[in-house]
Amino acid sequence: METKIYTRTQIPEAAAALAAGELVAFPTETVYGLGADATNEAAVKKVYQAKGRPSDNPLILHVADVAAVEAAVADFPDKARQLIKAFWPGSLTLIMTLKPNTFSKTVTGGLSTAAFRNPNNAATLALIKALGRPIVGPSANTSGKPSPTLAKHVYHDLKGKIAGILDDGPTGVGLESTVLDLSTETPVILRPGAVTKADIEAVIGSIENNQHHVAADEIPKAPGMKYKHYAPNAQVVIVPTPAEFQAALDWATAQHQPFGVLATDQQLAQATQVSAANQFSLGDTVETASRALFAGLRYFDLKPEIKLILAEGFPKTGLGVAYMNRLEKSAGQKYFSKDEWLMLYSNY
Ligand code: TXA
Ligand code: MG
Repeated sequence: METKIYTRTQIPEAAAALAAGELVAFPTETVYGLGADATNEAAVKKVYQAKGRPSDNPLILHVADVAAVEAAVADFPDKARQLIKAFWPGSLTLIMTLKPNTFSKTVTGGLSTAAFRNPNNAATLALIKALGRPIVGPSANTSGKPSPTLAKHVYHDLKGKIAGILDDGPTGVGLESTVLDLSTETPVILRPGAVTKADIEAVIGSIENNQHHVAADEIPKAPGMKYKHYAPNAQVVIVPTPAEFQAALDWATAQHQPFGVLATDQQLAQATQVSAANQFSLGDTVETASRALFAGLRYFDLKPEIKLILAEGFPKTGLGVAYMNRLEKSAGQKYFSKDEWLMLYSNY
């Protein structure tokens, strides 16, 4: 199948492809999603196939307005209304209990709840309105790879497997939305994102966090959390603070193997021994770093000689919580001491 690139003026064509049961990737303010008509069972099944995604991992319903949520949920908690008022459209996904027979098992992974999101992207909101139904959309990457923040990332992973990509340039936030479960007594953050715990608590009061690493045989709260994520081909070595950067660079250089450096401009300025082609800039703040992280991991995936990536950490406050959550996943949850780094290299 030829994968078309749709521009903003071709939204009617993209909507027609969705209505015909085809898959169309769409932009959001977080990452690109892989869209299908949520009410078309065959189309939703194709999403799992195209991504290579395990079918027990439920999908987010992207909606253009609150009415679509009202039509589907059994119980619309006050807290949901307050959060929607404060953060929609935006990077907060809300899990609520469904009315019976609203969406299929293929969408919900067999759960009695579903995740709703109103993305802050005008082209995609117009696309959902043109279709007239919610669009399911996991991130539009091959399962296990970093989420796409550019249309070309989607094209790289899914060309030939999907009907088209609605291209609206680079995404803004760069990390997937915050997922908040509102189906329990106390709301729980299942995935951290740009809308932080403090942001949410300022609106609805105290909530909980549940982002522990879920083992493959555990029944996870957010099923997606048990799968390997964001894994580049190289081993990511997190350099937790800028103070350790010079030591990490010296150590990696002494191994006489090409390595990549994913860091802020300030740290890259110290990396004089690393060729420009093996450096990828995270800009200079945690915001720019979040926007660039997945593109950086993908950049080094195109360089098979790179077996190790030194990646800069940020303090786990504000957006840093979500950034470090994704960076730790890309590193396989591992931190290395200098001795362990050495062991790592001797294994190549
Ligand atoms: O920013 C985003 O959220 C992007 C864009 C495209 O909207 N989407 C995204 O979707 O990241 P996905 O499928 O890659 O991640 C959705 C997460 C998964 O971890 C999934 O297990 C969880 O949300 N999830 C979905 N429905 C759920 C439910 N009913 N209960 C618990 N977790 C759920
Ligand atoms: Mg994903």
